[in-house]
Formats: sequence, C-alpha cells, structure tokens
Amino acid sequence: MKTTSGGYVVSKCRALLLLFAFIGSLIAVGVLVYFLADRPYPAAALTNGNGAAASASSSSGSGKKDQPHDMASNKNVRLPRAVLPIHYDVRLFPVLEKGNFSILGHVSIDIQCKMETDRIVLHSADIVVDPKSVKVFEQGKPGKTLMVASDGIHYDTDMEFLVIRLCPKHKDKLAKGANYTLSMNYVGNLTDQLRGLYRSTYKEDGVEKYIAVSQMEPTDARRAFPCFDEPNMKATFTVTLGRHRDMIALSNMPLINTTQMESMEGFYWDHFAPSVPMSTYLVAFVVANFTQVEADVGNATWKFNIYARPSARNQAQYASEIGPKIQAFFEDYFQIPFPLPKQDMIAIPDFAAGAMENWGLITYRETALLYDEKKSSVSNKERVCEVVAHELAHQWFGNLVTMDWWTDLWLNEGFASYAEYLGSQHVEPGLKWLQQFVTRDLQDVMSLDALESSHPISVVVHHPNEINEIFDRISYGKGATIIRMLAAFLGEKTFRQGLTNYLKSRQYGNAVQDDLWDALTKQAKVNKVSLPTGVKQIMDTWTLKMGFPVVTVTREYENSSVSLSQERFLMQRSNASSQDKTVYLWWVPLTYTTDFQTVGSTWLADGQTGKKHELSIPADKNQWVIFNVDQMGYYRINYDSKNWQMIGQQLMTNHSAISVINRAQIMDDSLNLAEAGLLDYETALNLTRYLEQETDYVPWDAALSSLGYISSMMSRTSGYGLLKKHFRTIITPLYNLVGFDQKVGEDLLMTKLRTNAVSWACSMGNKDCISRAVNSYAQWMADPENIDIISPNLKGTVTCTAIREGDEVEWEFALNRYMASNVASEQAVLLSSMSCSEKPWILAKMLEMSLNSTSGIRKQDAARVISQVAYNSLGRYMSFNFIRDKWTELRKVFPSTFSSMSGIIKAVATSFNTELELKELIQFREEKSEGLSGAERATQQSIDRAKNNLNWMRQNYQKVVDWLQRVY
Ligand code: BES
Ligand code: ZN
Repeated sequence: MKTTSGGYVVSKCRALLLLFAFIGSLIAVGVLVYFLADRPYPAAALTNGNGAAASASSSSGSGKKDQPHDMASNKNVRLPRAVLPIHYDVRLFPVLEKGNFSILGHVSIDIQCKMETDRIVLHSADIVVDPKSVKVFEQGKPGKTLMVASDGIHYDTDMEFLVIRLCPKHKDKLAKGANYTLSMNYVGNLTDQLRGLYRSTYKEDGVEKYIAVSQMEPTDARRAFPCFDEPNMKATFTVTLGRHRDMIALSNMPLINTTQMESMEGFYWDHFAPSVPMSTYLVAFVVANFTQVEADVGNATWKFNIYARPSARNQAQYASEIGPKIQAFFEDYFQIPFPLPKQDMIAIPDFAAGAMENWGLITYRETALLYDEKKSSVSNKERVCEVVAHELAHQWFGNLVTMDWWTDLWLNEGFASYAEYLGSQHVEPGLKWLQQFVTRDLQDVMSLDALESSHPISVVVHHPNEINEIFDRISYGKGATIIRMLAAFLGEKTFRQGLTNYLKSRQYGNAVQDDLWDALTKQAKVNKVSLPTGVKQIMDTWTLKMGFPVVTVTREYENSSVSLSQERFLMQRSNASSQDKTVYLWWVPLTYTTDFQTVGSTWLADGQTGKKHELSIPADKNQWVIFNVDQMGYYRINYDSKNWQMIGQQLMTNHSAISVINRAQIMDDSLNLAEAGLLDYETALNLTRYLEQETDYVPWDAALSSLGYISSMMSRTSGYGLLKKHFRTIITPLYNLVGFDQKVGEDLLMTKLRTNAVSWACSMGNKDCISRAVNSYAQWMADPENIDIISPNLKGTVTCTAIREGDEVEWEFALNRYMASNVASEQAVLLSSMSCSEKPWILAKMLEMSLNSTSGIRKQDAARVISQVAYNSLGRYMSFNFIRDKWTELRKVFPSTFSSMSGIIKAVATSFNTELELKELIQFREEKSEGLSGAERATQQSIDRAKNNLNWMRQNYQKVVDWLQRVY
C-alpha cells in the first residue's frame, strides 16, 4: 500500500519499521500505536507505569484530572526554582505521514542546581517520555549517573508538569551549586491544533502536502519538548531537526551541517548553530518543502530570507523588499545591532495568530506576509507591512529583553504595536502611519476600554487560559497608545535614549514595567525634561487602573480662562461602578492650541486636587480652543457648547485650519460623548455635516466607524431609511470625487479612501454605485480569469454588493473563485464578501461550512466566517443560534487556549440591542459557563455592550430620528 505525503512516497509498513528502528526501545508498542493513530490525547495514557493516572508529586491536589480549566483557581502554576536550565540540546523528528503523524524527540538539558532537591520539575504536555531513557548525571562526572526512582516519572496533567524524582533508596540528591544534565527520549503527537509543533496542510498541483511548524507562545513549547516553559527561565538552545531529503528544515539559528540518519535512507538530520540565551516561547522549528527568496540586504551583517509554498513564491517579493529595510531601521532606532547571523520569515498555510516573532525565524499567516502585485489590495500591503514591522520590533523589545512574567505581556505587545508604526512609516510613508495610529489603535481601543468590564493593562495572570486571554486589544492597542503618549511628553530624544539604555542594561535578560520607567526617569533627569512627578507615578495611573478620562473644558470667555476637570469615561454607568473603590483620576498630559501654530501644555494631577484645574489661555472669546493636540493623549475632551459651536463653524468654513488628526479626534470624541449621554446628539450630528467637504482619509475613517455604530443600532428599525439618506448625503460628494476607478500613481491613502467611499455608498443605497458593482461582477462572471475587470481594492465591495443584490449564482461564483485562488488575501476578501448574502439558507450553509473540515475553509478561518455572518444583520441571530447549537463542536475546533471563541461571541453580540437578545445572552453565559474559559471576559464585555446598546435605543434612538426628520 502506498501513501503520498509531504512530497515523498513511502510504504506504510516500511515507514513503521523504520520508526521502530529509530526509536529502539523508546516506548511500549501500545502507546506508540495509539499516537500514530493520531487521536486526541487520553488522560489515561499518562500513567505512571502502574496503570494509575499520574498525579502531581507535590503541588497538584485539585484531583480533577480531566478538567484542566478548573486549574485557573489553583494559582500555583509556576515552576519551583530549585533548578534552572542553562542549555538545551533538542533533537526532533516530525513524522509527516498521514496516519502516522507524530513527533519523535530527544532532549538533553543542562541545569544548574540552586537549592538541594531530590526532584526536577519542568513542563510537558501531551508528551510521553520513555521512562527508561531518563538520565540525570552531574556535569564533569559523566560516569556518575544519578538514579531515577523506578516510579519516578510523574505527569501532572493539570499543571502541565513533568516531575522526575531521584531514587529515595539511593538517597541521590541534586546538590546546590552543582550542574547536571537531564536527558530523555519521548514521543509527541503532531496534531492539527495550531500549537506546539503541529502540522499544516496545503495542495500543490492537486497533491496534498504536509509541513511541520511550531507555535510556542505563550505556553506551548512544552508540547514540543519537555522544558522549563517560563519566560524568565532563559537558556541557549542547540537544535537538530530530522527531515526527508525533499524537505528543508529551519530553526532560530543558521544550519551548520547535515548528517544522514542512521538506517533511515532518504532522511537527514540538520544541525543548527547554538542560539543566544532566550525564552522557550521564542523557539521555532519548521520542516517543509518550501522555496526560498533571498532578500537583498545591502551591506548588513546578516542574511535575510523569505520562505513560502513553491507556488506562492512570487508573492514573497514585497516582504523581501521591506523586511531588511525595517530590520535595519530598528537597528538604528534602538542603537543595537541585530544579534543573529540570519533572519528568516515564513508564510504558513495554517496559523492561529497573525504572526509570531520567534527569534530569527518569524512565522506568519499567509495573509500577513504574502502580497500579490496583481491580486492583493492596498489594505493587504498595509497588513503585511504592519505585521512585519511589529514582529521585527519584537526582536529587540521582547526577544532581547523579555517580560519577566506574562503579567507584563502588555509591555511586549504594546511596545511592538507602537513601534510597528515607526517601522512602517519608514518604508511606506504614503500610508501616513502616524495619522492612522489614532483610528487604528487609540480610538479603536477606547470603545472597549469605556466598558465597565474592561481591565487594567497590567493584569496578574497564572493559568495558560488567563495568559491567553490577555492577548487582547487592551494589551495591544491601549499599550501602544500610552507608550505613544509617554514618548510625546518625554520628547522623542529622551524616550529613545532611555529605551536604548533599558535594552542594553537588560539584554538577554528579563524586565518588569518598573525597569523601563526607571530608565526613562533617569534619562528625563539627564535631559532636564520637566515632569510633575516620576515616570512610574504617571504611568502607573494608566497601567494599573482600567479605563481613561474625559476631560471637560469649560471656558470663561470674558477673562480668557478655562476650568478643567477629569472623570472616567464610561459608555454607561451601572451599580457596579458606584461600588468600585478605585479613584479614577489620572496624571493627564494636556496640550491645547487656538491656531495649530503654538501649543500650550499642562498636567492634571491624579490626586483630588486634579479634579479642578484653572488655566488661562491666549484665546479671544470668538476663537475656538482645541485640547489634546494631534490626539497624543489617551483621553477624550468635552467642551462647553459655545466652543463646540465655534469648532463646528471652523470645520464648515475651512476645515484645514484644524489638523487632520484633530478632525478625526473631533468626529470620534463628539459622537462617542453623545453615545455616552455627555453631549447632545444634535451637536455631534451637526459636526458630521462638514464631512461633505472632507477629503482626508483619517477623519473619514473616524467618522465612519462611529457612524457605523448608529447604523448598526438602527438597521432593523423604521428610522433606518432616513439614516441611510443622511449617510448618502455626506458620502456622495466623496464618492463622486474619488470615483470608481483607480488613478495611476495615486496616493495609497487615496486608494483606501476610495475603498471606504465605495463601500459606504453601495451599502447606503447609492444607485450608481450599486449598478456599477453589479455590472462589474457580471463581467467578471463572464470572464473569470480576467483580473483586470475589478481592482483588488474594490473586489470586496463589488463582490459583497453583487451577492447582496443577487442570488445563488453570484454566491457560487465567489465560492468557486475562493476555491481556485492561490492568493490567501484574495481568498479572505471573497470569503467575507460571501457573507453579504441576504438569503438565510446561504448564510446557514456558510455557517455549516465553517466547521466542516472538507469544505475548503481552514480551521484558522472558521471563526472569521462565523463572525462575518454575524456582522450581517440578517445573519446576526443565525450565528447566535449556531454557536448555541454547535457549542460542543466549536469547543473542539477552538481548544481552550485558542482565543477565537472570544472573537465569535463579541461579533455575535456586538449589535444586540433588544431585551430579548440581552436576556438570551445572559442565559447563554449561564448555560455554558464552564465551557467559556478563556472567553469569560469577552462574554462579560459582550453583555455590557448589549446593555449599552439597549440603553442607547431607549435614550437616543428617537433623538437621532428627530434630528434626521428636521434635516431631511
Ligand atoms: N506575539 C504575537 C503572536 C501571538 C499572539 C502569540 C497571540 C500567541 C498568542 C505577535 O507578535 C503578534 O502580536 N501578532 C499579531 C500581529 C500584530 C501586527 C498585531 C497577530 O498575531 O495578530
Ligand atoms: Zn506582538
């Protein structure tokens, strides 16, 4: 019998024989057969050799072996520090054969004993160690092997610990101060779960191919090899990977030599250079038959390569151009050279996150690395640029200096999310990244952080579920925003120098947020930056408290002064907030201007004295004042009505007297203040009328997302017709200006503006837009291979509109193009446009396809499909029913540590605005409570959102309708 896999053909029997030869007496045949059958991992297989389920040697005690989620209540998930790792030798052979998917591994760890102990506790999950292979010997004394107790191998499945106990009879102990080597053989399962070392699949010329790839962050290195899987247990790594002759193997460091596998013809071991000291979550392995695109690095000291499936080779060009430029930019920015001899970036067909910053071997989803000159859009280019810059920033901030524990994750992700704008601006200035920051991060995260169920940026976390839960918008978007604010009030020079000092003094080590604040405070002193208090005191108010302030500016027109006050900005206040004892006052760096020529600044303090603040401003009583210049601060601003009116007049007469970013700020602040009941809708909606003259991207982006909220609230109400009319009125001049056709050589932001204008014009019922979209789609259907008919920048809207207006054939055509496409970003656009259908049965079909592994939709995209259907107002309820019905299956597709569940729940509930929907959502949380681990906070946030929405309908719906009736 022949099977084909990963580009080579072997007989199954022979392969099995070879495997046995390789692992020798590694493990009992029964267990191996179990693994090779590629089944989910049974708790019972983890026995201690006597048939009894393995239990913790000391720290377990919960007794609930098959309910790992319950462990969240058990806080003691940290490893003891009696021994620390110094160096790992990891040898892995991923078996890439259908029916035999497995990992055959050997690890040898040099450890240092810090405290006398008779046991070694390290991490391991879903791994079976050959008990006979476990060896411990003292370094420098290879003859002196310490005896491992006959029942000395324990698995604590709750804690994901492997405990190795020395023999009590021999009284063997590890002595304080001595170094030892621990080694063992093991087998693991090469699953399709997108974590640990897993397999990914793709087709090349109709043939199914398999690759092995790793995703360790945050806590899955322990699934690939037993290790001390905590970020501050850094060590060096020497990696060896086994592969077939047709494949290549990659790891963090460059290849040094290749040897043939003994008695395994056609198989080789690739040996990689020893790494620098690093955390386990940054280790990476790849075995694949991919092609390499070598980048031109100019006179850099390192090599830079991009890897992709052979048929996607031509899509690697863009990344190979910007990668080395951004890496060189960060070398200059941080004033520290990239320490490794090479950087590889690889596009993986199945990938859970967007990308992962493994040191020297960055892994990406295809949509985040590949770009097709003809088929990808400006947004796709922007995405690639952003993700590449983000991961490259981590090479310093995260990899060289790592957070001490996951509690400080925000520092890693927030910083990279800030620095990605600097790196991107360097290579794609046309996208005006520093303007876009405010809509993409600052304003975006404010909408989440205005909920009572938000959380402080710095959160104490223990269990892997809790750790996974904090990879959220707060860590990323708010993290980036407060770092940008910090850089602004310190000044660029002080910020950069302080950062370099921080990185240099902690390189190859770990840090907590206070270490960064210390370095910046010192540098601020050197540079004589005047601050009201220390950087730590200021920043603690932003990292330890959740939310952000709204600063109210009340002018006294006669004597040129203003009075300022701050309070927490909440979309809605419930009893919970009145019980919250936190003092919601911040150190607020305020800036203001009356002409965008001179900018004044002051601070609001975090104490009670900060509540009121008087300031005199050089403004004539007929002159507006604008606070939070270029929205560098993380707060909203409310004014008295006269100042709002003067701002409105300025926007109507000559909007360019106000900076682009502040125009975006005014749109976002005013509409959100209105939503929260702090400003009347009349004022906010009147301000939007200036948009008829607006031609800059960022203010439009801000306005459309805030107006999008009103639209989603009203889409199923009688007032929707009038609202659409208003939207058409403001969008049509823009639509007429930018047109349907792209101009040669135009600004990238102009292209993005067109994408938005066309999308809104079509969805708000602009007849010209709809008929053009429907016609172009019909032309495309008649000539499917012709890629010149629809610009990639309009393909989403055109397809969405034609499917919405059309029938089954239009949808089927998109599905066929989806299946035929070799470009992941084009596939993503088609898939989301397909959810625009207004046929319930088509939407039902899409929901079913999302979970069906043979439908052609990848596991990594399933959550997106369900979310997209939920964003369609017809599909909203269908998706909710779907997740309730298919709960058990969904949990299987998205294991507990996979955050997609949060995304789905949020997508479904984000526009719920009726009593019934809210009730059902609360009921859903109660029914599924134990299955929500990792998505609890997201569910609570969804409930909060639904409550806000309900309230919005009660308080504001009629007001908006009244305003529309008055205007139209
Ligand atoms: N370190 C993360 C990848 C990650 C995310 C690992 C979640 C484990 C859990 C990486 O640096 C990252 O943040 N990637 C982003 C892209 C970025 C541009 C915001 C992502 O995956 O979306
Ligand atoms: Zn990141």
